[in-house]
Amino acid sequence: RALGAAGASSPVSTGVRVLGAPDGTAPELLSWVLETAELTRPDAVVFIDGSDDEWTRLTDKLVEAGTFTRLANKPNSFYAASDPTDVARVEDRTYICSVEKKDAGATNNWMDPVAMKAIMTSLYDGCMVGRTMYVIPFCMGPYDAENPKLGVEITDSEYVVASMRVMTRSGRQALDLINTGLPWVKALHSIGAPLAPGQSDVAWPCNDTKYIVQFPEERAIWSFGSGYGGNALLGKKCFSLRIASVMARDEGWLAEHMLILKLTAPTGKVHYIAAAFPSACGKTNLAMLEPTIPGWKVETLGDDIAWMTFGEDGRLYAVNPEYGLFGVAPGTGWKTNPNAMRTIEQGNSVFTNVALTDDGDVWWEGLSDEPPAHLTDWKGRDWTPSGLDADGNELESAGEPSSHPNSRFCTPITQCPIIADEYFDTTGVPISAILFGGRRKTTIPLVTESRDWQHGVFMGATLSSETTAAATGAVGVVRRDPMAMLPFIGYNAGDYFSHWIDMGKGADASKLPSIFYVNWFRRDADGGFLWPGFGENSRVLKWVVARLEGEAGAVETPIGYVPDADGLDVDGLDVTPEQMAAAVAVDADEWRAELPLIEEWFDTIGDSVPSSLRDELDALRLRLG
Ligand code: GDP
Ligand code: PGA
Ligand code: MN
Ligand code: MN
Repeated sequence: RALGAAGASSPVSTGVRVLGAPDGTAPELLSWVLETAELTRPDAVVFIDGSDDEWTRLTDKLVEAGTFTRLANKPNSFYAASDPTDVARVEDRTYICSVEKKDAGATNNWMDPVAMKAIMTSLYDGCMVGRTMYVIPFCMGPYDAENPKLGVEITDSEYVVASMRVMTRSGRQALDLINTGLPWVKALHSIGAPLAPGQSDVAWPCNDTKYIVQFPEERAIWSFGSGYGGNALLGKKCFSLRIASVMARDEGWLAEHMLILKLTAPTGKVHYIAAAFPSACGKTNLAMLEPTIPGWKVETLGDDIAWMTFGEDGRLYAVNPEYGLFGVAPGTGWKTNPNAMRTIEQGNSVFTNVALTDDGDVWWEGLSDEPPAHLTDWKGRDWTPSGLDADGNELESAGEPSSHPNSRFCTPITQCPIIADEYFDTTGVPISAILFGGRRKTTIPLVTESRDWQHGVFMGATLSSETTAAATGAVGVVRRDPMAMLPFIGYNAGDYFSHWIDMGKGADASKLPSIFYVNWFRRDADGGFLWPGFGENSRVLKWVVARLEGEAGAVETPIGYVPDADGLDVDGLDVTPEQMAAAVAVDADEWRAELPLIEEWFDTIGDSVPSSLRDELDALRLRLG
């Protein structure tokens, strides 16, 4: 029978041992757990309480299974290598199964929910045989929020349990809130790798068949076949973006793929900034940036997800629903992101698909200038900088990076040395500016200020970026990625644009955040980056804030306002005036070439694109001449 199809069925006795479900556990939760156990047939069911003992038991089990390797040089930290086929989000296997196809829209995969449930119910049938089923009560955002956003993930992966404990507030406190009768989201996950009696396990069990499915009306998530990050830690992308974006549409708020930072000027003036960049395009780095300009300070509130709602004072407030950082490892080093290094150095972290050093530490490309003389690469093979072994023979790993380009560190955000005190506030922080950004070699200037909210929404809706290793598929292909949310909008993208427009219309325009468009990744003719990026991005933040306060010069161009010749503080920066000019240049020909692409993009989404955005496109076309 279809799992979750009927709410009326009473709990069935499966004979399975259920451990750790306290008295008073919500009947709806217990019956869902038992119903799922009946279908998936695990050896035991364990409720996660979040205690230290439990963490020790779990990580010991993971070490014994060979999934985790305990690191010698970082306290309470572990290395994991996934199956080589299970390394990133699988967008082509991700579905929004709304009742009506039109509600998923052209940018999402869709299947009828009844048909999808039939397929997945047969996949889930017996899928946990030989394994333990874990029940993880969790809360996205603070427990003491006005409406705490609760969920329960069922999973048969200890790796997922350990990672969810880093990434979310989870355990007994979340369960206690659920047991008071508050609403919660059902999130079911299985790696899809049952074990027959006597069958030996592998270090990273998973299934070639993968489905990452959201049922928006039911606020439910079903995931199968993958153990990796965004596919399997269901509190993150599936709940806090896909399901939450639907809740946000219905309830009048925004669930966005954004970092949140606190910027303090030398004068002491504080601004909070949110920024949406596609996966692997610089959010984690900007969120914990170390400014190169004297007297400026950045503190971190979030590096991936922002939930934003208007406060009583009419300003837009943002909270970070997550409790950990799931950061791209390659490129993270003392020179580029020292605060990430200080965060992971404290331990309590999981590193996935990086390389292991001979003395029991981790390494990845960009961690240091010189790689160690010998590593074990993410595929478990010998790796040397030259690609040769001690006898001069070519290694199988020769010519490949030691770490997968989407390898990750998973670490508690509370360990970040520059975490802002406001991270713990339930009301969040009032946002002064929103940055949209992508990874484009050409066309998009270093920074552009929008003319107003509607124009800013147009910038976000037409955002384009080169694809990265954060999702499976080709890398480096330019695609539209609206608000950096293409893989995460839980409903029709045109309706999502309308929601953004409406949020602005309903607000006091003078209190709305200003919207900017940035691009750290523009290249010169030789293929080098035109802008040094990383800590130097503080110069762009300074210009943004000066624009908010009417203190910086700008040139009006057809696409918006860009810094004038002395708008950006380049004091002490090793960049020629020609490079600077090229970084902020608006090339009308390049932009005229974008117009048909934007037109095509809107046509792909279809009738649901709000007319105000079509108007913006017409106005841009006119301004470009
Ligand atoms: P996220 O996935 O959006 O959080 O992106 P990250 O901050 O993890 O960065 C992804 C990749 O882009 C890493 O390899 C970074 O080193 C690199 N990166 C981040 N910021 C910059 C920048 O300002 N300039 C350049 N050239 N690379 C950057
Ligand atoms: P990212 O988060 O944005 O830091 O890459 C993970 C993802 O989007 O898959
Ligand atoms: Mn992300
Ligand atoms: Mn990140």
